[in-house]
Amino acid sequence: MKGLILSGGKGTRLYPLTYTRAKQLIPVANKPVLFRVIEAIHDAGIDEIGIVTGDTAPEIREAVGDGSRWNARITYIPQDAPLGLAHAVKISRDFLGDDRFVMFLGDNVIEGGISSLIKQFDSSQWNSQIVLTEVADPEHFGVAELNGDGQIKQLIEKPKQPPSNLALVGIYMFDAHIFEAVDAIRPSWRGELEITDAIQWLVTNRHKVFPYIHKGWWIDTGKPTDMLEANACVLEELTPHVTGMVDADSVVDARVTVEAGAQIINSVIRGPAIIGENTRIENSYVGPFTSIYHDVVIENSEIERCIVLENSHIADVPLRIQDSLIGRSVTVKHSTRKPKSLKVNLGDHSRMWIP
Ligand code: DAU
Repeated sequence: MKGLILSGGKGTRLYPLTYTRAKQLIPVANKPVLFRVIEAIHDAGIDEIGIVTGDTAPEIREAVGDGSRWNARITYIPQDAPLGLAHAVKISRDFLGDDRFVMFLGDNVIEGGISSLIKQFDSSQWNSQIVLTEVADPEHFGVAELNGDGQIKQLIEKPKQPPSNLALVGIYMFDAHIFEAVDAIRPSWRGELEITDAIQWLVTNRHKVFPYIHKGWWIDTGKPTDMLEANACVLEELTPHVTGMVDADSVVDARVTVEAGAQIINSVIRGPAIIGENTRIENSYVGPFTSIYHDVVIENSEIERCIVLENSHIADVPLRIQDSLIGRSVTVKHSTRKPKSLKVNLGDHSRMWIP
């Protein structure tokens, strides 16, 4: 079996972070979402993985490399424009050959433990397996309607009036029949070749498509709030370890990971949380559901339920920073300069909320 990861697209809803970084490379619990996807595929015993890339291809190649870090072989498949998930399958034909494969969306984060599902498909007679989960807002997803016997009746992409609350999760398993399907369908109203329509084609043409209903959490990390939510869920699953230094005046609770070279000085860290390599937390409070990436400094400040990316500096901030996504090399500091006013240097599409 092979793996296919879709990492094209622009990630406009995560601006300004995604001006300079592929959205799949934003870390959740200090590990890029794309790396988590590679690991999920590799855990299922798959070591040949194709990654479909768009404009951010150079950056993705640089971060992932040839896959040897995971004992996997990575093939990059450039997609000229994001013409749809089914289009991505179409252009991956040479890489996939006639093998069965699992396709993952490179920006989805799912609760661990799905490798048995992938292995099960590998040894099954099904032509496809899809993963569904109940959501509150099905109109934003591909939606499945099931018959009384639990089999698929129909699939619709982002329906205005959803026939059920079962969304298609960004994990799909196929055999080579999918190539007939992607050749047969036409672009949707949004101009994309939809994988949902291709799977509907399989169902209509009496191929065996098995719906699996996932009961755990699953997050499509499109928006900043989704990133924070995914970060919280993954931190809950993490097995903590303390490799860095914690001084005698600090209190670090059991669900905190302190990575190598990190220093916790006279501070309180409440888990689940992770402090990245070579980061220094001094005279500060880091609250639950916070991920601080590598080479960050936090001094005389309080922060909770946030993601802070590398090389940022937060110092002497008089208010607790909460529910925030802070990019790379960002400075947030208290200033004593007159006049006493708010001084900002915000990039395009930045957002700031003042209490
Ligand atoms: O997240 C699950 C949903 O993903 C499903 O419920 C929908 O049925 C499915 O169509 C898809 O919907 P989205 O509109 O959320 O897909 P999005 O455009 O965000 O693309 C998902 C990923 O695939 C993202 O990592 C970018 C990548 N991609 C997307 C397109 C359109 C590509 O690599 N190439 C593409 O052409």
